[in-house]
Amino acid sequence: MVVFKTNSPSSTQQLGKMLTNYLHDSDVICLSGDLGSGKTAFAQGIAQGLKVVEPVTSPTYTVMNIYHGTKIVFHFDLYRLKYPQELEDIGFAEYTNSGGIVLIEWPDNYVEYLPEEYIWVHITPGSAENERIIRITVHGSRYSSLEEELSTIADSWH
Ligand SMILES: Nc1ncnc2c1ncn2[C@@H]1O[C@H](COP(=O)(O)OP(=O)(O)OP(=O)(O)O)[C@@H](O)[C@H]1O
Ligand SMILES: [Mg+2]
Repeated sequence: MVVFKTNSPSSTQQLGKMLTNYLHDSDVICLSGDLGSGKTAFAQGIAQGLKVVEPVTSPTYTVMNIYHGTKIVFHFDLYRLKYPQELEDIGFAEYTNSGGIVLIEWPDNYVEYLPEEYIWVHITPGSAENERIIRITVHGSRYSSLEEELSTIADSWH
């Protein structure tokens, strides 16, 4: 696990943008944390890094938004899903190996539906008002070097 601290929405976006330097086709990034923690801000940074020009908003009412940048981005928000079956109904498994980048807000109840390899980003409030503690954990062998690379960045992150 690599721990970052940010002190503004744009700093959280910058962190998401930085992560895109390491992303490959079909990567899955889970964004967990309470309401208003900054999951969408982080997703906006990823979209920026992938040169998405449309504004990225929380897809709460649509379950998923699709954006087109240097890669396709599937941005899920599972907050309002009530049954895992709904995830199957929207064809979730097909999105996770379609070549696009998959971002998932509120992934906590759906871990069993994730592929073997994914990046888990957990955001909690820090001690100051606009501070966020962002913990990034990578799951899967492809990412074995990623944690090391991220930890060198974390040392100098502001
Ligand atoms: N360091 C920070 N990083 C991100 N957001 C911050 C930070 N400091 C303050 N904020 C504020 O916190 C809110 C984060 O909103 P955002 O929509 O990204 O959260 P979310 O986790 O996606 O919420 P939801 O669970 O409703 O989808 C915004 O109002 C933003 O201005
Ligand atoms: Mg959101």
